[in-house]
Amino acid sequence: MPSLRHVVIVGAGRAGASAAAALRAEGFDGSIRLVGDESLPPYERPPLSKAVLAGTAAAGAQQVLAPDFYREQHVELLLGQAASAVDLSARCVELAGGARLSYDHLILATGARARRLPPDLDPERRALALRDAADATRLAAALASPRCRHVIVVGGGVIGLEVAAAARAAGRAVTVVEAGPRIMGRVLPAALAPLLKQEHERHGVRILEAVHPRRLTVREAATSTVDADVAPVRLDLGDGSAIVGDLVVAGIGAVPQTALAQAAGLHCDDGILVDEFGATSDPAVSAVGDAARFLHPTFGRALRVESWQHAQRHAAAVARHIAGQREPGQREPYVDVPWMWSEQFGLELQAAGLLDDGDESVVRTSADGSVTTVFALRGGALRGVAALGPDGKIGRDVRVAQLMMERGVKVAAAALADPDVRMKSLMSSAPPAAPNRDAVA
Ligand code: FAD
Ligand code: NAI
Repeated sequence: MPSLRHVVIVGAGRAGASAAAALRAEGFDGSIRLVGDESLPPYERPPLSKAVLAGTAAAGAQQVLAPDFYREQHVELLLGQAASAVDLSARCVELAGGARLSYDHLILATGARARRLPPDLDPERRALALRDAADATRLAAALASPRCRHVIVVGGGVIGLEVAAAARAAGRAVTVVEAGPRIMGRVLPAALAPLLKQEHERHGVRILEAVHPRRLTVREAATSTVDADVAPVRLDLGDGSAIVGDLVVAGIGAVPQTALAQAAGLHCDDGILVDEFGATSDPAVSAVGDAARFLHPTFGRALRVESWQHAQRHAAAVARHIAGQREPGQREPYVDVPWMWSEQFGLELQAAGLLDDGDESVVRTSADGSVTTVFALRGGALRGVAALGPDGKIGRDVRVAQLMMERGVKVAAAALADPDVRMKSLMSSAPPAAPNRDAVA
C-alpha cells in the first residue's frame, strides 16, 4: 500500500474529531489537518436541544475532545474555513479562502444540515432551525423572551419534541405540527409513538398529526431588535385551520452534506456512498458520520445513521483502517448496531437497530408499567429495539438487545414479551442466527 503521510479531514464535528483522535491512537504520526467551517473547536450537539435550551449550559461549551488534544497531538485545526472543492486526481482540497491542502488520504466528515421550510411556505424565513451552536443560542434567547407566549413547532421528530419539551419547561404554550401519520416516524415504532404523544399532551403540548403546513405569515413585524425572532405569526394548515403564535421552529429533518463530494465526482445517494470500511468510490477518500451511507454487514443493506454514538464509532473504525493500512483480508468491517437516545420531560427514549426491518413486532411492558419496550424480529432474530421509560430504567435492556443483534442471537417472541424473563438470560438461550451478508458481497 502507498505510504501515508498527510491526512486531511473536512468537517470538524464529532466524527471529524473522533477520526483525528483514532488516527493518533493507532500510531499514525504524519500530518493531520482538521478543517471546519464553524468557528468553534469540535463540540457536542446533543446539549443544544436539551441543556442549552433549558439555560443550564452554553452552546458549544462541551467539546468532543479535551481542548489540549489538538496542540499535544499535533493536529492542525483550521476553523472558520470551508472546503470548497476536492481535486481527486491531484489529491488536494481547496479552501474557500484559496489555500490548497494536499493529502494522501482525505476523510469527509461533513455531517448534515437542517432541512428548511420551502420559501413559498415561509417567504420571510421566520422559522428557526436547530443544528449548530449559533442556532441554539438564538433559539434559547427567543424562548426566554417574555413576548414568546406560544411556540409553533413544525415537525414532530427528535428536534421538534425536544424543543417542545424545553419550551413547555420555560412555561410557553406549544403546538407541534407533524405532517406524517404519527410523531417520531423515523425513529419510533408505531406502538411507542402514542405513549410519547400522551406524555407530551399530559405536559400541555398540543400535537397535530397528519397535518401539512401551507403558509407562514408574519402578522406584525418584530418591534425589538433584541428578540427579533419573536413576533406574532400565523401558520395556515392544509386542513383549512390556522395556528397563531409568536415563534416558529422547524425540525423537519436533516440533509446530508454531500455537495463537496458530489462536485468532486464521488458516488452519492442520500449520503456519500461508502463500503463497510468507510471507503468512497475513490480509495484515497473515506466518509464518516452523518454524511456517509455505508454498507452494514449485519443488516445487509446500506444505512445512513444520524446519531451521536455512530458519529464517533464509525469515524474511529474507519480511521483505524486508514492508519493501520491493512490488507483487505485483514480488515474488520464496521458492524456496530446503530443506537440513539432522547430525553423529553424526564422520560428517556432509546432505539437501536432497525425497527422497520422485522416481520414480527413484540411489546414488553415492565411489571410496574413504567417501561415499554418494542422489539422487531426477523426470522426469530432481533433486528431492532426501542424503549421508553423513566430516566435510568431502560438502558440496560436496550444494551442487551443491541448485543443480541450484534451476535445474531435468535430469541422466542413469548420470552421477549414476558417482563419476568430477564433480558440477559435470553442472550445464551438460543443458537446465533447467520448474519445476512448477501447484499454486501
Ligand atoms: P456534524 O455534527 O454535522 O458535523 C459536521 C461538521 O462539518 C459541521 O461543523 C459542519 O459545519 C462541517 N462542514 C460541513 N461541510 C463543510 C465544508 N465543506 N468545509 C468545512 N466544514 C464543513 N444524537 C443522539 O444520538 N442523541 C441525541 O440526543 C442527539 N441530540 C442532538 C441534538 C441536536 C440539536 C442535533 C443537531 C443533533 C443531535 N444528535 C443526537 C445527532 C448527533 O449530534 C449527530 O449525529 C452528530 O453530530 C453527527 O456528527 P458528524 O460529525 O457526522 O456531523
Ligand atoms: P427527524 O427526521 O427526526 O424528524 C423530522 C420530522 O418532521 C418527521 O417526523 C417528519 O415527518 C416531519 N416533517 C417533515 N417535513 C414536514 C413538514 N413540511 N411539516 C411538518 N412535519 C414535517 O428530524 P429532526 O427532528 O429535524 O432532527 C434533525 C437531526 O437532528 C437528525 O439528524 C437527528 O438525529 C438530530 N437530532 C437528534 C436528537 C436525538 O437523537 N435525541 C435530538 C435532536 C436532533
